[in-house]
Amino acid sequence: MAPPRSPSANCLVIVLVTCLLHHHAAAESPPVDEVELLLQIKRAWGDPPVLAAWSAAASAAGAHCRWRYVGCDLAGRVTHLDLYSIDLTGPVPDAIGGLSSLVHLDLSLNLLHGSIPPGIWNLKKLQVLFVNTNNLTGDMKIDGFTAMSLTIIDFSENKLNGTIPEVFGHLENLTRLNLTENNFSGEIPTSIGRLPSLEELSLSGNRLTGMLPPELGKHSILGYVEASDNDLTGAIPEGLCARGQFWATLRASNNHLNGPIPVGLTCLGHLDLHSNQLSGEIPVNLGGGGLLYLDLHDNQLSGEIPANLIYGSLLLWKLNLANNKLSGRIC
Ligand SMILES: *[C@@H]1O[C@H](CO)[C@@H](O)[C@H](O)[C@H]1NC(C)=O
Ligand SMILES: *[C@@H]1O[C@H](CO)[C@@H](O)[C@H](O)[C@H]1NC(C)=O
Ligand SMILES: *[C@@H]1O[C@H](CO)[C@@H](O)[C@H](O)[C@H]1NC(C)=O
Ligand SMILES: *[C@@H]1O[C@H](CO)[C@@H](O)[C@H](O)[C@H]1NC(C)=O
Ligand SMILES: *[C@@H]1O[C@H](CO)[C@@H](O)[C@H](O)[C@H]1NC(C)=O
Repeated sequence: MAPPRSPSANCLVIVLVTCLLHHHAAAESPPVDEVELLLQIKRAWGDPPVLAAWSAAASAAGAHCRWRYVGCDLAGRVTHLDLYSIDLTGPVPDAIGGLSSLVHLDLSLNLLHGSIPPGIWNLKKLQVLFVNTNNLTGDMKIDGFTAMSLTIIDFSENKLNGTIPEVFGHLENLTRLNLTENNFSGEIPTSIGRLPSLEELSLSGNRLTGMLPPELGKHSILGYVEASDNDLTGAIPEGLCARGQFWATLRASNNHLNGPIPVGLTCLGHLDLHSNQLSGEIPVNLGGGGLLYLDLHDNQLSGEIPANLIYGSLLLWKLNLANNKLSGRIC
């Protein structure tokens, strides 16, 4: 009679078998589905010649990972689609939302139209989303959202409208949000000002109203803020330099911003606030000596032009203070 096996040995066998089954499943089945999804994507764009290599005939197991513009992980799951500037026309295909391992999606500089399919917002691993410079329309109403890994969102140069989704203000790793040159309206969610990783925020050329989020700069090392050509009102956020960055950029010209220029803006290299309703004096320490570009024309600034602003900023190459109520001379 064989000696009874110990319970722990039994457990080990079960674990091993489960592992093997798992491994088998991961290696075999999913890539097949993704080939079909890629072919659906290609069809949605009218089988363009540039995607001729995407062909079921050429799809031995894992072969789609070597198709042009496609990148996979070691398990053969599609992680990258780099489809910028290849004259794609048509919609953003729904099938993209089925590529659940996608990390990097670049559809920029094409002729895509229609709206962004909801499936994109449930790609849990998606980090980089470039759809800029297309012809996308529709309002950005997002119902379900689980794409919490996003680090870069670039929608610039489309015709998207509606309000900026509040959910973007909850992306802990978001470093760059670019919505310039669209038709977004409504207020900027205040949660955007509390994003802990945000480095670049570009919102120029929309129809945004309300204030710049007052907490901007206090929670992340924000080096670049652009919000020109909107209908923004209220004050310049005072904490923009709170994190000790340097040579930062703030552009918010052609709005209705009012109140004084905050005294703490000592980290700026580039400041463009022309054509607003700013009042009060120009702070003596503006730019902290590092200004390269200063345009404050068409405001209601008053008082003396601080001498050290002009003489202390050795690298200043652009200066426009016209159409204010300033005194003093620049020579
Ligand atoms: C973009 O869409 C508009 C209509 O919204 C159309 O008139 C225009 O031709 C489109 N441009 C391109 C490059 O597809
Ligand atoms: C954010 O990034 C950190 C560090 O890379 C990572 O551990 C974390 O899971 C990320 N958060 C999300 C929601 O993806
Ligand atoms: C935002 O998009 C515009 C237009 O595509 C581009 O010129 C600008 O450099 C982008 N901003 C950042 C910070 O990438
Ligand atoms: C957004 O644009 C669409 C047309 O693309 C229009 O039907 C809709 O009313 C617009 N929504 C807003 C909030 O302006
Ligand atoms: C932006 O939206 C407004 C109001 O809905 C509309 O009149 C205008 O044509 C839109 N602009 C573009 C470029 O789509």
